[in-house]
Amino acid sequence: AATEAPEARSARILVASNRGPVSYSRPEENGPLTAKRGGGGLVSGLSAIGPEAGAVWVCAALGSGDREAARRAAEHPDGLLDRADTGGQAVRMLDIPEETFRAAYHGVANSVLWFVHHLLYQTPLEPAFDVGFAREWAEYEAYNTAFADALAEEAGKDAVVLVQDYHLTLVPQLLRERRPDLRIGHFSHTPWAPPDYYRMLPDATAAAVLRGILGADRAAFLTRRWAEAFAACCARVLGARVEGEVQGGDALRITYEGRTTQIGVHGLGADADFLRERAHRDDVAERLAQLREQIGHAPDGAARRTIVRVDRTELSKNIVRGLHAYRRLLEDRPEWRERVVHLAFAYPSRQDLAVYRDYTAEVARVAEEINDAFGGPGWTPVLLHVQDDFARSLAAYRLADVALVNPIRDGMNLVAKEIPVVSEEGCALVLSREAGAFEEMRQDAIEVNPYDVTATAEALHAGLTMERGERAARAARLATAATALPPSRWFLDQLHALGG
Ligand code: G6P
Repeated sequence: AATEAPEARSARILVASNRGPVSYSRPEENGPLTAKRGGGGLVSGLSAIGPEAGAVWVCAALGSGDREAARRAAEHPDGLLDRADTGGQAVRMLDIPEETFRAAYHGVANSVLWFVHHLLYQTPLEPAFDVGFAREWAEYEAYNTAFADALAEEAGKDAVVLVQDYHLTLVPQLLRERRPDLRIGHFSHTPWAPPDYYRMLPDATAAAVLRGILGADRAAFLTRRWAEAFAACCARVLGARVEGEVQGGDALRITYEGRTTQIGVHGLGADADFLRERAHRDDVAERLAQLREQIGHAPDGAARRTIVRVDRTELSKNIVRGLHAYRRLLEDRPEWRERVVHLAFAYPSRQDLAVYRDYTAEVARVAEEINDAFGGPGWTPVLLHVQDDFARSLAAYRLADVALVNPIRDGMNLVAKEIPVVSEEGCALVLSREAGAFEEMRQDAIEVNPYDVTATAEALHAGLTMERGERAARAARLATAATALPPSRWFLDQLHALGG
């Protein structure tokens, strides 16, 4: 029905991502289908262009609620979700068959490509690519094809299409085959693996992913480091020609089979205006009071210091080593006992995958072990919260004396950028050198090697003992660096680079 509607094939700007800006669920059995809007860089980036820009966002239905909403929308003449649910945005949600979605998303995207780019494999046992992977790969192709078909159908002549992330690596090439008139960009929100690690993938897969992305006119990354790794993989795996250097702008180019793809770098920063306003609403003040109560006071009446972390419970975020480092701090520096609290907010993620469930359990186990070993009446050394609550996260940001951001590897890490903006006293930032954000924030952060628990404990100590004036001055500079590239600019720069 969508193709017959007068609005069809008229979008001038298209965004494609696995996860869309809205999700549907039925909180009560037999109750109404309820829409929940998400946040993130794409949502705020897109809001920088008005509805008259004619943008359509294509995403996948992720669960049963989404599927129902997608089916309902397919019956509308325009095939789009109800705009009341999406905040006015035109969104087409694809009802991809569940088997295909599971294999593409849980199998290939999250268990293979995510693992490769974040260096997460336990290599003596994993990965082992066998017939199961071949089946999943075929579904990943089908899922990418469904996106390419939908985009080809929605796009007006010469439209600009911004394809997002590792879920959709094959889309640029598939879409170019269908619609050579379009201007196509691909953006990777993850790190990119170095060639030696990337070549763990079966050869045909390693090549297909690169060729798929090179179908774009422009392939962009969050930092120079990830862009260079991508180029190195193209040279090594495909024998593609790499010219120029990444120096901001589009100086790096990759030529393969007669076509040239520009490589771009677009850092993404925190949205300062939004954060500062949101962090001072009533719901945050309420959570702040509750947290202060839970944190309590040291026996001498002094306010306890806080070490704050907020993450999805994600293997790459390195939450368990962070807890071990905190335990090391309490062991080696007994002066901090009773005087510090670690607010560790770890929100469940990708719980369909057993490794994520195990990791979530391990986080809870280690936190409990620390509380049993050191805590007592009136002092809980680790306050672990797992119920996702953005207002409470912001309250913790406000309270932070030290922010702990220690990922094994991370495309950017926006939490590292958000906490210094919101913290009231100005926090010290303990930051992994493997986070993309490190490039922009290294000067005023306390650098850590994420694998080194002892060094992380020492970094936490350095943060806690940093003189107040210095801490505040550094936090102010960190906040400036963190907000230099607002999401609106990240989005508009990419559009402009594609001539949109
Ligand atoms: C990373 C990816 C995003 C993804 C997000 C949450 O930031 O780059 O594409 O949406 O993680 O993961 P999820 O699997 O829940 O969508």
